[in-house]
Formats: sequence, C-alpha cells, structure tokens
Amino acid sequence: MSVQKFQAPKGVSEYFPPRSKLFEFVRECLISPARLAGYQLMELPVFEDTELFKRGVGESTDVVSKEMYTFTDRGDRSITLRPEGTAGAMRAVIEHGLDRGQLPVKIWYSGAYFRAERPQAGRYRQFYQVGIEAIGLDDPAIDAEVIAIADAGFKAIGLKKYRLELTSLGDSQSRAAHRIDLLKFISTLNLDEATAARAQINPLRLFDDKREEMKKAMSKAPLLMDYLSDESRSHFESVKGYLDALGISYQLNPHMVRGLDYYTGTTFEFIHDGLGAQSGIGGGGRYDGLMQELGGQSLSGIGFGLGVDRALLAAEAEGVVAEDRFVSDLFVIPLGDVAMVESLKIATTLRLAGKRVEVAFGARALKSSMKAADKSGARYVIVLGDEEMSSQSVELKNMNSGVSASVRIDSLINAL
Ligand code: HAM
Repeated sequence: MSVQKFQAPKGVSEYFPPRSKLFEFVRECLISPARLAGYQLMELPVFEDTELFKRGVGESTDVVSKEMYTFTDRGDRSITLRPEGTAGAMRAVIEHGLDRGQLPVKIWYSGAYFRAERPQAGRYRQFYQVGIEAIGLDDPAIDAEVIAIADAGFKAIGLKKYRLELTSLGDSQSRAAHRIDLLKFISTLNLDEATAARAQINPLRLFDDKREEMKKAMSKAPLLMDYLSDESRSHFESVKGYLDALGISYQLNPHMVRGLDYYTGTTFEFIHDGLGAQSGIGGGGRYDGLMQELGGQSLSGIGFGLGVDRALLAAEAEGVVAEDRFVSDLFVIPLGDVAMVESLKIATTLRLAGKRVEVAFGARALKSSMKAADKSGARYVIVLGDEEMSSQSVELKNMNSGVSASVRIDSLINAL
C-alpha cells in the first residue's frame, strides 16, 4: 500500500530551522521601532467578511478582483482570507470604538496575509507582514514618523541597498480635478473592454499596467502631482521637510500607483535593489477616506505594511547574519539519570532568570553530546556527573575561548 505524502500548498512561504532564526530576527527588527514609538499590538482574525475588502481595498484592484481567497462558510457567509491588514484594522477600530478615545490611535500588527498571486521568488500566496496604522491625525509630522519607523526597521536589520520612493496622491479635490483630465486623456486611447472598465472605477490603475504598449501610452498622461490642491501641496512639502530634517533620503516618483485603492495624500514604497522583480519590501501611505467608507466617522489615517519575507530575502542578499541573541547561553550535558534530574532543575532555574539553556537528551556518549553543544552555538557548556553533583560545582567551559573555570552550581547565574 502506498502512503500519500503531503506537501505544503503551492506558493506559500514556510520558515524552519536554521533559516527561521533569520526570519525571527528580521520580523523582530521590523516590529521593534513601532513598539519604541508607542504603537500597541492589535491581533486580528485572518478572515473577514468579503465585502470589507471589496469596499476597503477597492474592486478595481488586482488584489480584490483576482487574488482573494474567498469561500462560503458553513453559515452561507462569504468569507475572505485577509489579503492585507489595513481594512481589518479599520474595521476593528470602528467596531470597538477605539476612535472615540485618544487620537491618534496607534497600532501595530504582524501576521500572515493571503493573495492568490502567481508564485515566484519573493511573491507568495501566504506571506508575512509587519504593519502599523496611525488613525485620526492630519499632521504631516505623523506621516514622517510613520516613514521613519519603517526606515528604522530596515536599518535595524542592517539593510543598506534600499531606497524610499515618495509621492502624494492628493486630497479628493486634487484627485477630482486630475480625474477629469485623465479620463479625457484615456478616452483618446484604444482600450480593450476590461481595461476600460477598470479605468472607469479607478483611472489611476492604468499607470500600473505592466504591458509595454500601455506603459508607453500612459507616459504621456497627466500626472496627479500637477493637480495637487494648495492644501495637499503644502502638506506634502511639510512631509518632505520633516524627512529632510530626519536625514531620510527619498526619490519622488509621481508615477507610483499602489495596488490598493484607499490611498490619498502621502504615499510611499521601499524598494530593495537585490531582489529582482519583487523588489517592494514595504509600502504605505495615507487613506483619509477609508474610515468613512467603512461606516465610521470621517477620520484620516496613515500606515505601512512591510514584507517580512522580502526583507528576509533582502537580508540574505546583503549577507546579513542574524544577531546571536537567539543562541543559548548554556548547554548542559548530564551523565546518567540522576544527573538528568539535576540538569533539568538547573535549566529550569536559569530559564526563569531569563537565560537560554539547552539540555542534552538521549543518554548519548559524552563525545557526541559535546558535538551537539558545539553545533548549537551555545556560549557555555557544563558536564554534570556524580562528581559534580557531590561537590556542587561544575567546569564552566567557554565555547568561544575553550577556557574552563570551576563554578559552584548555585552561582552559575552570575557566571553566565
Ligand atoms: P502592500 O504594498 O500591498 O500594502 O503590501 C505591503 C508589502 O507586503 C509589500 O511591499 C511586500 O513587501 C509585501 N507583499 C505584498 N504581497 C506579497 C506577496 N504576494 N508575497 C510576498 N510579499 C508580499 C499593504 O498591504 C497595505 N495594507 C499597507 C498599508 C498599511 N498601507 C497603509 N497602511
């Protein structure tokens, strides 16, 4: 009888040792600056009402029209695996009234997202993001802070070969003025039916068309940048001023089109040079109409989503090595059953004090346990036998220098 072998679904990203160590490091680096800036955790469901994404992300987007994992649940409800985090975050803020308290609401999140894209290097059907949202403040200073937090995350990883692209998609007044001229321009193009339909929902989408002939045609289209209202222009000038003051360099990209329809005003993307086609390691911007669109009050917002998978690939491309903050402080090798009991006690006590401690299991020969200790990368090793237990002291061996020192078991914590 042949037994079926299982494989992960096509196109998902998975992390397991030893690579998961770098993944953990990268994700931690991306989260940490948000925590340091007072953003608080929001943990949300991975599935939501399908309509939330249709309304929030927009029906003209590839994400909604082609890439959602949508199914009918047992209660006949249409459910979608979250393709991104902002719509769900906004849903939760409105539902739980967070917007009735202190503003801005500042939250961060991290987790798996789902898009049924064609899998390729750096593009997965299940991928990981770290994101933040700051809701309820129009001040351009917060735009700069949000961008600076993303930048600090990439810097913490040790990335160097990335750049920030920046634009403004203006307020509704700016976009309305631009839309009239853009639609006029588009009406002179010879479009297929599907493209014309997209243009009617959101003409900006055509700037994102990857076909060569469309790129060429759209290169002559009027740019939103040239239609910014005085208010949008001055907001954008301030954002740039703050970024300059913070020493965060950027390139203006008036052709930027984000893959989600909710963006307004300041919009940005981080691009890494070592990743080939899937070079966007993070992106975000303002979404000043989203809360109202989703049935909440009229509050503005800004945030970002950073791609943990791609930041990891970028780290690997740049030869970043995970900091050894995940390496064990001590590796304990027991000789015999009684020593095992003692070893587990020592390990438990030290772990309570915040030390990383591994125990060698499986009654192996000392030589093979020493090999395991070496491979684990642990900083120190002790061997625990009858002699050590009766004297209550061990030889604490520094695996880096090879030097050993005699230490009492109850002083191990200090010695480490
Ligand atoms: P997004 O640009 O669609 O924005 O995604 C953010 C990041 O997620 C991308 O820059 C990329 O690194 C990563 N990413 C997206 N799709 C994939 C994929 N299929 N495989 C691997 N990585 C991927 C958003 O999702 C917005 N919610 C960000 C935001 C928050 N804007 C305002 N607030």
